[in-house]
Amino acid sequence: MTGSVLQVRRLERCDLEARTAWFNDPIVAANMLMDYPASLADTEKWFADTRLDRRRRDFSLWVQRSGEICAMAGLTDVDERNRRAEMYVVVAPNMRRQGIGATAVAWITNYGFAEMSLDRVYLFTLRQNHNAQSLYRRLGFCEEGVLRRHVLHRGTRHDRLVFGLLKDEWSGLPWAHDAPLPMEIRV
Ligand SMILES: CC(C)(COP(=O)(O)OP(=O)(O)OC[C@H]1O[C@@H](n2cnc3c(N)ncnc32)[C@H](O)[C@@H]1OP(=O)(O)O)[C@@H](O)C(=O)NCCC(=O)NCCS
Repeated sequence: MTGSVLQVRRLERCDLEARTAWFNDPIVAANMLMDYPASLADTEKWFADTRLDRRRRDFSLWVQRSGEICAMAGLTDVDERNRRAEMYVVVAPNMRRQGIGATAVAWITNYGFAEMSLDRVYLFTLRQNHNAQSLYRRLGFCEEGVLRRHVLHRGTRHDRLVFGLLKDEWSGLPWAHDAPLPMEIRV
């Protein structure tokens, strides 16, 4: 994917079929705390219920050349009083390990700090999700702690790791980008 141009847009109804399929992918289902299996009807209901919710922003990224959707990322639990939000990312199962995850995390984090004036972006990963942890560490997120056996996911209790990035840490990172953010990015 090196050299490709990605476009970012707010999540649209036309993204929901891909979103449902991705959530049923074994690696995504093992690592993201969604109800399994996902159905298109539930995803459509979720979209209708949350579309105008000011406490979250959901985006999809697509490859300009092919029109293929390659990632979705968002900020949830947006807390205006404390100026913080939780981040998530998921990459199309057939497009992993091409730099799209890092590009999507950098873009959505830039969006949180630059466009939403957040002071803190944080996220959770299951302990087993080494791919995601390595990505967050590489980008400069700080591993803040472990919530021991915090969730019961698909029949097993799991530790959850907390990662966070503060605005003053973000501003010193090579990928930090102030507003206005481009909706077109190069991988
Ligand atoms: C975690 C996830 C978002 C990572 O996305 P990704 O697109 O694979 O991420 P990247 O390609 O940017 O980086 C992944 C690895 O590929 C490597 N990579 C990037 N571009 C590459 C390329 N062109 N060729 C070979 N390897 C490459 C990176 O160096 C990185 O390696 P590392 O793990 O040894 O550090 C993705 O695996 C995913 O969607 N997982 C399921 C959902 C999930 O777990 N979400 C996070 C919940 S916390």
